[in-house]
Formats: sequence, C-alpha cells, structure tokens
Amino acid sequence: MTRNQYFEVEEVFLGTTFDDFTLNPQCSVAVTRDSIPLKTKFSKNVSLNLPVVSANMGTVTGPAMAIAMAQEGGIGILPRGGVTISSEANWVKEVKRAENFIIEKPHTIHSYQTLAEARNLMDLHKIGTLLVLSETGKFAGILSAKRKMMLCGSYDGERKIADIMTERNQCGYTTRESISSAEEAAEELAKHDKEKLVWLSEDMRIRGLITTKDIGNLLHHKWANKDAKGRLIVGAAIGVTGDYIERASELIKAGVDVIVMDTAHAHNQKVVLPAIREFRKHFQQFELVCGNVATYEGAEFLSEIADGIKVGIGPGAGCRTRNETGVGVGQLDAVRSAFLASSVPLIADGGIKKTGDIAKALCMGASSVMLGEFLAGTDESPGEIINDPAKGRIKKYRGETSPQAKLSIAGSAENIKNVEGQEKDIEYRGSVKDILRGIREGLQSMVSFMGEESLASVRDKVNEEPWRYFRPASSATQKESFKK
Ligand code: XMP
Repeated sequence: MTRNQYFEVEEVFLGTTFDDFTLNPQCSVAVTRDSIPLKTKFSKNVSLNLPVVSANMGTVTGPAMAIAMAQEGGIGILPRGGVTISSEANWVKEVKRAENFIIEKPHTIHSYQTLAEARNLMDLHKIGTLLVLSETGKFAGILSAKRKMMLCGSYDGERKIADIMTERNQCGYTTRESISSAEEAAEELAKHDKEKLVWLSEDMRIRGLITTKDIGNLLHHKWANKDAKGRLIVGAAIGVTGDYIERASELIKAGVDVIVMDTAHAHNQKVVLPAIREFRKHFQQFELVCGNVATYEGAEFLSEIADGIKVGIGPGAGCRTRNETGVGVGQLDAVRSAFLASSVPLIADGGIKKTGDIAKALCMGASSVMLGEFLAGTDESPGEIINDPAKGRIKKYRGETSPQAKLSIAGSAENIKNVEGQEKDIEYRGSVKDILRGIREGLQSMVSFMGEESLASVRDKVNEEPWRYFRPASSATQKESFKK
C-alpha cells in the first residue's frame, strides 16, 4: 500500500467515508456475544464502557440525555450555545447527583424557614426531599415532596418547616463510621427498611443521604460509567473566546469530568492555541478534549496539548459547511489521517447513520464516536414532541449554526451570520436507551465477526493495517449493503 506524501493517509482511504467500505469477516473465536467488552477511552484519563458520546448540541444533549448516556456506559457532552454559564453548571450538578450511592451534599433547609421557601428550593433543584437542619446546623428531620403536597390543600406558605417536617426520631439514619461502597450502602438501607437513610456523624451533622432509588439504579445499570465516588460521568462544552475561562471554572466547580473545547476549526494558531494555553494556565492538568480537526496536521497540532481530539469537518447531518465553504474531508479519511498523527484518543464526530458506521470509525482509529442525529428525536433529547399532520410525531434536530439555532440565540434575524447548519425533523423514536442497547449489540457482533474477544483487540489489530480489513465497496455492493 503506498502512502500519499502530502496527505499521509494511505491512498485507498483518500477521500472516503463509511459506505465506501465493508469490513472483511475473520474466523470467529467468540462463544457468546453479549459479554464482549467494549471498554475504550474518551480521552487520556476518561474511560467509556460503550464507545458512544452524545453531541454537545442543543437538540441532542441536556441533563436527561447525559444521564442516560452515562447509565449505558457512554458520556454526554452538555452544549454551550445559547446556554448561560449557570444553566450549564446546574446541568452538570443534575447529572452528578442523578445516581450515586451517597448524595454527598443533599439539599437542606432550616427548621425556622417556611413552606414557601421549601417549595421554591424543590422546584429550583427539581428534587423531592429536603433535609432539615436545626438552628445549630444539626440534622432535625426530613421534608418530603409527598408531605409538602399533603399540606398544599390547606396551603400556607408562611408555615414553619419545624411544624410540618418528619421529625428525626421517625426518620431512618445511621452514624456508621464509614460507607465506602454501594454494597455497604445497600446493607445499611436494608437494616433500617426505609426509602431514605441519612448518614450522620456522631454529633448529628449530615454526612450524606442514601436512597433506595439510587441503589436500585446502581444494580440495574451494569455498564454505567461512574467516577471514583460512584457518580455518573459527564462532559461539558466551552468555546475559545469570551467567557470560556469563567465557564470552565464554573463547570469544574460543579463537578464536570471533562471539558470539551469546541470550535468549527480547531487547527488555529491565533485563537485556539492561546485559548488552550490559557485553559492550561488556569486548570493545569484538568481533562481537556479539543476539536474539530479533519487532517493529519490538525491532529498533530492538538495531540501535543489536548487529552483527546474531536475529528470531523462537515460530515454531520445538521452541517452545511461543505456546501457553504467547499471545505471538509471524507470522514473515514479524516479519522485515519488523524489517527496516524495522534497520540491521544480520537472521537469521530458526525456523519454516523448506522451502527455499522460506528464499527468502521472505531476500526479506523477512533476510540469513540460522537452522535447527533442518531440520538435525536428521543425521550431524552431536549425539545417537544410535535404532532405534525403530514409527518406524524417528530422532534426538531438543529445544526448548531442553523438559522433556527442562531435565531434563538441572536433574537433577531439581522444579527445572524455564518450560517453553516440546517434544521431537520426527526421521527420520534422513544427512549434513547433502546438505541444505545442496539449499538452495544451491533458492536459486540462486529467484534465476533472480526475474530476477536474485545473491542480493544479488534481496534489494535485493524488500526495497525486497516487496508487488510476494509474492503472497498463498489456502487453495486453499496446498493446491496445499505440501500435497502
Ligand atoms: P451527526 O451527523 O451525528 O453530527 O448529527 C453531529 C455533529 O455535527 C456537527 N455540527 C455541525 N457542523 N454546522 C456544522 O458544520 C452545524 O451547524 C453543526 N451543528 C453540529 C458537530 O460536530 C456535531 O457533533
């Protein structure tokens, strides 16, 4: 196989994308497929149990999507476009609190505060329980939404929490010295036979809250992607100008696991390089993924300074970059070119239409894929389900630089420029969890077809000499394969 000196990528992959190839089956060694591990990396220090990332797009990822993604082993990246810093940080907190064996800083209220204040706090944080503190800051009781609702019939916002809370002696609590695993938390819950258990120090100060819901979720999501404290993993996007350092700082304070510095063209000496340096000055080793690039040189440029690289210019379903500017690289070519230059994990971003495309992106060198349209139109994607008389139940999917997305940020059509995206209607498809499970099964089957026992070993084998495994598909083969 000859190498093209300028582009570096092998000639057979020049200008190609997913449908230009099929993967050559190998002699299988797997006995069952459903236990095949798909462990991979999102970035140098952030792992995934499913190599799938939800795109930082307003119609794709919000807290509900990020929670579902991490529960199934992937990661969601919260968007920044048109989102205030405090909203993005609150979304991070929502994900981090969604599922853990101990809620470390449960929301609290003082016994001298009022029902109206409790109501505001519950609405603000979308929670159903407040722990009540005495004047001296000790655990005094619990106020649950159920109890609050019961009192709404004779609603008196001025009533003191002390009068309506469930008193400490009726609540489940423990002063056990340490609780260091989900198993220990489950054991303690079972002992007290309560829905919620407050973990206290000897002097009645709150150390955490354990709930049956969280413990149940933990046991249910066996692939869930968690941090060292048992909380779901989440990423969030920042830009490269304006308030990006302040945004990063608030996101990090909120507990984000990885920051994605996102710009349409990251191979940029004048803006992106100084922005990364500024980020490093403030946050040193904090995990940073940067993108997008689509060439060997672009990946080489970022590989030195970022912990992961997003690859893809113009392949996305909501993109018009190639139409409006003529710029872009076939996505399979872009992934291979970046792989040859990069020493950090790559995220293949955009253009994925089917699970087979994910398989090819991973075999070509990506460590994970970022999906937009593939995950849109689901219960977990932001936005309403619209009952369209002609199209049925749909949800909107918008390119981040579509006129509609820009309009919602700019407020008036006059201020809109650089439109390089489009809006699409996506048929409503139910829960994203079914889609993610389908991806898991498809990738496990691919590993078996490719003669290996794990995704990692397929990638090692194929990445080394992909031309042995990627078989060019003629237009007739493409028709036979994909256009059914
Ligand atoms: P898919 O195909 O998965 O692609 O929907 C998601 C990716 O598309 C990119 N994106 C855009 N690219 N104009 C562009 O040129 C846009 O308006 C736009 N919006 C999203 C982005 O990389 C995303 O992850």
